[in-house]
Amino acid sequence: MKKVQISLESFLQETHASESLATLLCAIAEASQAISALTENGAIENKAGENIYGKLNSENVQGETQATLDVICDKIFTSSLAATGLVAGMVSEEVDLPIAVKDKTNKAEFLVFFDPLDGSSNVDVNVSIGSIFSVFKSPIKTDLSEADYLIAGKQQVAAGYAIYGPCTMLIITTGQGTHGFTLSRASKQFLLTHPDMQVPADTKEYAINSSNQRYWESPIKRYITECKAGAAGRREKDFNMRWIGSMVADVHRILTRGGIYLYPKDSKDSAKPGRLRLMYEANPMAMLVEQAGGAASTGRMRMLDVPPEHIHQRIPIIIGSKNEVEHIERYHAAFDKGTDEPFPLFNERTFYR
Ligand code: AHG
Ligand code: MN
Ligand code: MN
Repeated sequence: MKKVQISLESFLQETHASESLATLLCAIAEASQAISALTENGAIENKAGENIYGKLNSENVQGETQATLDVICDKIFTSSLAATGLVAGMVSEEVDLPIAVKDKTNKAEFLVFFDPLDGSSNVDVNVSIGSIFSVFKSPIKTDLSEADYLIAGKQQVAAGYAIYGPCTMLIITTGQGTHGFTLSRASKQFLLTHPDMQVPADTKEYAINSSNQRYWESPIKRYITECKAGAAGRREKDFNMRWIGSMVADVHRILTRGGIYLYPKDSKDSAKPGRLRLMYEANPMAMLVEQAGGAASTGRMRMLDVPPEHIHQRIPIIIGSKNEVEHIERYHAAFDKGTDEPFPLFNERTFYR
């Protein structure tokens, strides 16, 4: 007999989310469905002769050239969230300042941070992209200042992402496990297909943009050198490497079969201590992965404990299988104390000049 599939709506009703949080998450699911419908058409033009591909002439607050789809997704998320009447303020990767929402009903109880489109550089090449979100309880007051948004990730009440890949999925946590839903094209509903996702504690798969190798700190150079040395080296096992270039897709692989993703601190640009953003990339992914038994760190502290300094703050991230994250934290601690061992295979001074 065919088993009954649980929809996102009934899952949220039957489990742990409050009515307002359930409504908010359903609005995010609808926004994701709208984006998914757009991505399916790729370069096919709509009646107005437009399509989602290509770049715009504009830059976001990060100084990055915006893709057409970055701006479309930002508008979809902003209007869907504002329409709920449950959001007091929002922060989008694409908008410099927090967006205050007029509270017409006195029910605006949440702050939402989002990366409306993650993996912009993968849009035109038809590789998986996504949207990431993080939800906090809003401080109860009328005029929110920027400082009111600077809340540590451990206080998130929900987090998740949508991935627009061969199928569209929504992965969420409300602090009671991490659960995956697949969008049914037939019923236009998200159905629970991956309950209680788990990240195995050990892994043999890492993800890092190795083109930055010469800019990394010693603990990361050492870790990756040892992974590459494989069974012949100190780790005594062969590793595999994957890099999709969309954090959602790389983290989705880790939530599915384990692994480790690193975008560490580098010295490429001293104004940027990391590539990814704390409030709408690192924090939500850290909550999802921790809730699935994994870990997330800056290399020097637990990601969810980081006190935010800026809404668009960048941060180094090491996330995934717990034992591997802790292994890399130990390398940072030893390096900071000056007790780190020389590399087992190569002498850094001659090898990485
Ligand atoms: P965004 O498209 O929101 O700016 O994020 C891109 C991020 C992340 O998705 C990805 O893992 C990383 O940037 C890719 O970095 P590289 O360009 O160094 O590969
Ligand atoms: Mn992103
Ligand atoms: Mn983005």
